[in-house]
This record gives sequence, structure tokens and C-alpha cells, in this order.
Amino acid sequence: MKIVIVGKGGVGKTTVAACLARLVGRDGYSVIAVDADPSLNLAKALGIAPSAASSKPVLFDEEFIKERTLLPNGAYRLNPRVEDVIERFGIRGPDNVTLLKLGYVKKGGVRCLCPEYAFLRALLSHLILGRKDVVIVDMVAGLEPMSRGAARGVDLMLCVTEPTAKSIDVTQEIYRLSKDIGVKNFTVIGNKVMSEEDKVFIEKALSDVKILGHLPYDENVVKADRLGVAVLDYNPSSPIVLELNKIKKIILNFMTSKKP
Ligand SMILES: Nc1ncnc2c1ncn2[C@@H]1O[C@H](COP(=O)(O)OP(=O)(O)O)[C@@H](O)[C@H]1O
Ligand SMILES: [Mg+2]
Repeated sequence: MKIVIVGKGGVGKTTVAACLARLVGRDGYSVIAVDADPSLNLAKALGIAPSAASSKPVLFDEEFIKERTLLPNGAYRLNPRVEDVIERFGIRGPDNVTLLKLGYVKKGGVRCLCPEYAFLRALLSHLILGRKDVVIVDMVAGLEPMSRGAARGVDLMLCVTEPTAKSIDVTQEIYRLSKDIGVKNFTVIGNKVMSEEDKVFIEKALSDVKILGHLPYDENVVKADRLGVAVLDYNPSSPIVLELNKIKKIILNFMTSKKP
């Protein structure tokens, strides 16, 4: 099961990715949580101590990238070997979750042909296509690093959406991009929802997409964030955790029936 979490900056992607990863892990699945967001704060949201998560993200390990991509003649491989990356760079977290800090490509963009980008695409494809475990990717909004090939292996794209016009705009843009690259199941989770009106706002604006549920605005998230701990550890029965548990069940049902 491969889940990619997207959405505008600040909507709650990392909070949702971390909590969902641990809830799925508690159900006995082996989960790989991939931090593909440049701000690299998934470790904290998962409740992994900074000392345990201080290692370099894989894309920042220049020696390793060089070793895997450079050919003796100075050219580089478009298909570098990546299958041992989890073993080498994975960080053990709570509840059966292994964190992989990806980092980001400091230069370049969509059409960049630099070795780091080739490596990033190979790695994302490998993680999304190649493994049997549950993979949850905390993604950057643009979907840039995702190739068409990898998109085919994505079982579920979860776009976290706040009840604001800006967030809805970004969701619609990502939805368009996701169709372009061939993502099959695009779904939305409302977050920081404070009223029935907020829910209706999201549902009306996104009437053409499947909405898995709405997460309330929850002070526990803010307090856990200030303390640098996971909301699941701060208050396991906080409203957001209870709602995410319901969404987790929908996702696991989908996993067995293949319908969200
Ligand atoms: N349901 C929620 N209730 C209250 N605050 C939230 C909620 N979800 C996220 N936040 C807060 O919003 C901010 C951004 O969340 P984060 O998960 O880092 O977003 P993203 O990864 O999309 O940038 C954080 O300060 C977080 O504590
Ligand atoms: Mg984030």
C-alpha cells in the first residue's frame, strides 16, 4: 500500500502523515514513512528523539549519491541502485514505523538532469513500486519529483485541505497535476475544521473528489508541536487522533477492497 500525502504548506500534511503512519503501524503493518518535504520535520511529528534522527538525509550524502550515480567516464547513471537505501538510512521509530529522511535536490527542477534528481526519482519509484510494506510519503506540494511510472504505483493520494480558499486552490491544482501523471485514487482530508460551515465549504468546493473525512482544529496538536512531541504521545485520545483512526479504517478497508 503506497500513500502519498500532499497539500499546501502548513495545512497539516506532516501531522497527518506521522499520526496515520503510527496508527497503521499499530495495526501490525510495517510502515515506511518517507520525509520528502524540505523542512524535514516528520521525525519530530513521529515522536523520534532529535538525537536518534540526526543522521543526514539520503540526498545530502554527497559521497553516497556520487558512488551510486557516477560512471567512470564522468557521465552518470539514470537508474542508480537504490534497493538498500532503507537498510542504510532508515531510522527506527515507534509503532513499527521506519523513517526515511529524503532531503531535497538543492538545485534544479522538473526537467533537471542532475544526478541527485535522477537518484530521487529512482528512489521514489523504488519505494512506491517495489516494496510490499505500507509506504507513506510526506510530499512536497508540487509533485515534481514524481514520475508517471511511480504514480502508477500510488494506491492513494491524500490531499490535506484547510477550509480556506487558498488551500482549496492548491488542492485543485494538485488534483489536476495528479491526473496528468496518472494517479488513480485522489482523495481529500479536511483539516483544522472548526464548524459545520467549514465542512460544507470544503465539500462544495471539492464536490468532484472523494473526501475521506474531516479533522477538527485541535489544541492538542498545537501543544504537542510546542513541546516537540507527537500528538499521539501527548494525548492519545485527542479529537484529531480519534478522527484519524476512523480515516485509517477507511484506508485499510480500501487496501483490501481496492475502493476508497
Ligand atoms: N488539526 C489541527 N489543529 C490545530 N493545529 C494544527 C492541526 N493540524 C496541523 N496544525 C498545526 O499547523 C501547523 C502546520 O502543520 P504541519 O503538519 O507541519 O503542516 P505541513 O506539513 O502541511 O506544512 C503546525 O503548527 C501544526 O501544529
Ligand atoms: Mg510538513
